[in-house]
Amino acid sequence: MKISVCGKGGSGKSALTTLLANQAVSRGLGVLVVDSDESNSGLFKMLGFENPPVPLMELLGGKKKLKEKMRHTNILAESHLSSKDIPPPHLISRNGLMLVSIGKILQALEGCACPMGVLSREFLKKLRLGENEIAIVDMEAGVEHFGRGIDEGIDRVLLVVEPSFESIVLAAKIKGIAAGMNRAVSAVLNKIDSEKIAHKLESELKTRDIEVIGIVPNDPLVFEACLEGRTLGGGEAFNAAGKILGNLLSENRDTD
Ligand SMILES: Nc1ncnc2c1ncn2[C@@H]1O[C@H](COP(=O)(O)OP(=O)(O)OP(=O)(O)O)[C@@H](O)[C@H]1O
Ligand SMILES: [Mg+2]
Repeated sequence: MKISVCGKGGSGKSALTTLLANQAVSRGLGVLVVDSDESNSGLFKMLGFENPPVPLMELLGGKKKLKEKMRHTNILAESHLSSKDIPPPHLISRNGLMLVSIGKILQALEGCACPMGVLSREFLKKLRLGENEIAIVDMEAGVEHFGRGIDEGIDRVLLVVEPSFESIVLAAKIKGIAAGMNRAVSAVLNKIDSEKIAHKLESELKTRDIEVIGIVPNDPLVFEACLEGRTLGGGEAFNAAGKILGNLLSENRDTD
């Protein structure tokens, strides 16, 4: 199963990606986390790695070379890829947790991120997972990834919604775009302080025909770990992510 985690900037996509990945590892699954956010660089820290992987973009000769290759039909020569096909500096791993990064914008005037979008899309389409593997893709904020077709290779879109009007409006927009691509969208409520807020947010989403599959509390442990650049594990949010993962896995089993 390939899951993309998307939503408004700062809603908690990277935090949820990390919590789900750590839960999956604790269940003995192999997890490939794909960092598809070309702006933020801190996901490796959240996942507990010392250093980031070398972006896949570099494996293909950097952005300039990739741009040239994009003029031809195929960027990645292989028709299928598995985690084993990605060499070490580009895939880092620890106890079943694997991380790859597509590419990062690092310099002023280096041009747009389109080559990275193409690479994300092609990589995810070609990625084949083993029996006990899942992939979790930490998307960039907003909706541009849909426009770039990055979600074409995804089985499941997880939408992170925080208690704000902007987040609800974006959720409705994403639901509409994903429906146009025949992709089911499920929402996870994040940073929830009370049942009242959860209820209000859930009913707002219901009127927009968006199903809520989990509620992650506002957890000081997550806040502190994010502040200090530590990995996320233990505590209420981690337990909530465990339930969400359980739901996703059992639904996946039912549809097989
Ligand atoms: N469940 C939670 N409980 C407490 N704080 C949280 C929770 N989830 C996220 N946060 C806070 O929100 C901040 C943003 O979270 P995160 O980086 O995961 O968001 P994001 O959606 O990935 O942001 P971006 O769009 O910039 O990539 C974190 O630094 C943390 O302080
Ligand atoms: Mg993020």
